[in-house]
Amino acid sequence: MKNNKILVIGSSGQIGTDLCLSLERIYGAENIICSDLNPPKEKNQHKNFIKLDVLDNKILTRKVKEENISEIYLLAASLSALAEKNVLISWELNMNSLINVLELARKKIIKKVFWPSSIAVFGPDSPKLNTPQNTILNPSSIYGITKLAGEKLCKYYYDKFDVDVRSLRLPGLIGWRSLAGGGTTDYAVEIFYYALKNNDYTCFLSKETILPMMYMDDAIEAILKIMTTKKENIKIRTSYNISAVSFTPKELEKQIKIYFPNFNVKFKPDYRQKIADSWPDSIDDQEAKVDWGWKAKFSLEKLTSEMFKNLSN
Ligand code: SER
Repeated sequence: MKNNKILVIGSSGQIGTDLCLSLERIYGAENIICSDLNPPKEKNQHKNFIKLDVLDNKILTRKVKEENISEIYLLAASLSALAEKNVLISWELNMNSLINVLELARKKIIKKVFWPSSIAVFGPDSPKLNTPQNTILNPSSIYGITKLAGEKLCKYYYDKFDVDVRSLRLPGLIGWRSLAGGGTTDYAVEIFYYALKNNDYTCFLSKETILPMMYMDDAIEAILKIMTTKKENIKIRTSYNISAVSFTPKELEKQIKIYFPNFNVKFKPDYRQKIADSWPDSIDDQEAKVDWGWKAKFSLEKLTSEMFKNLSN
């Protein structure tokens, strides 16, 4: 991979922290350039880390050329809850970062792009159960609107300029290497930290709010898999539905109580409840299974035990 390096934008975030480790292991740390506005949690976590603002197109282009980058994983984004509080900043970050990267691909400076979409593209009038790939898409959050616009942009760049951009509609992600930040599904990560510290947890969603979720290892595998699948097998050029598990805060509390019987959750829904209510309960990921062999491995039981095992180390 000498002149074929990978740039990860947003490497210090929830997905980036895990993804960089996997990419470094697979392709060699010398071939992975990790970048973010914030430094990684642990010093010297990455062989190559640069501070980079994806909105600064001039510096982005210069770095990509200097480092001989051929693939970009664009993870920098403002998530659903945060975006509601900073509409303009979130629109600018979520849309301009994508167009900057797609332009690099259109100009053939890079060859391939990964960009995550989200279950937030669905809205209150989408079917709730087993939400299909192709359905009504009327997102009610600004985050969902940026993700839907992003999907359309990806498809446009593919159809018109043959830009090889690949995408997944990610559900709530649960991992132990980093906290989530600014999302509506963040409770499902935070709750583990509280349980381990023997503290009660106040959940910002109601106990019956069911949402699609996924253990981080499954998400990383999906990203690596879609990026290494033959181009002709990627038939959906907006973004693929993928799914793993669906559960409510109450169900997660019950699982956690197996490990910490005295653990208690209070429920105090806030503005995030409305966002959660507009999202599906479960997702149909038939196309991802057929086109590139996707299959989730982690159930609620398994992800709970993995979280406690890794967090207590
Ligand atoms: N986890 C994300 C959020 O809550 C969904 O894409 O915003």
